[in-house]
Amino acid sequence: MRRRLFFELRYFLGRAPWDTGITPPEVVAFLDRTPPGRALDIGCGTGTNAVEMARRGWRVTGLDFSGRALRAARARAAAAGLKVDFLRGDASELRGVTGHFEYLLDIGCFHTLPPEGQSRYAQRVAGLAGTGGTYMLYTFLSNERADSLPSRASLERLFIPAFALTHFERGTDRQRPSAWATFVRAG
Ligand SMILES: C[S@@+](CC[C@H](N)C(=O)[O-])C[C@H]1O[C@@H](n2cnc3c(N)ncnc32)[C@H](O)[C@@H]1O
Repeated sequence: MRRRLFFELRYFLGRAPWDTGITPPEVVAFLDRTPPGRALDIGCGTGTNAVEMARRGWRVTGLDFSGRALRAARARAAAAGLKVDFLRGDASELRGVTGHFEYLLDIGCFHTLPPEGQSRYAQRVAGLAGTGGTYMLYTFLSNERADSLPSRASLERLFIPAFALTHFERGTDRQRPSAWATFVRAG
């Protein structure tokens, strides 16, 4: 509840520095090399990436718990004349999301979940990824102060062996350690 209000407030105040309206190059590179299928954008925010995927022919579901972000996402899709299935819900439950997806994307949502939410999320994501499906995660990472953010080791514990980790690239984001991780669903 507190997290949801935090995000609602940030969107309301226009203080959402992540909301750039630009699809990150890592996602563009994946979409450039992958034929369209079903995609799930977890914590889709105002729909920049969900709409970009739909523009490229993907059948997209976007989920977020912020009503304000989802209103903007629906308006973005409508303005582009594209159909995207936007759902309001909790990423750690992913209720109402069914079937299998070839591409699952999470930019900045997973790391906001509490540890028990992260475990449930990992189980749900594994169940929703089709064999060979790609799960791409952009996350803040824990630092020396041993905060509650994920580490590479905790990600591996949560997502392997359901997935193979195929790429892990560290970076910094507003002076905080971050990473792009790409997982492929094992058969
Ligand atoms: C840093 S923003 C990134 C938004 C979007 N992925 C982007 O790249 O613009 C994180 C998003 O995750 C959503 N979020 C955070 N925790 C969530 C949860 N437990 N369930 C659903 N959405 C959540 C927030 O409302 C927010 O839109």
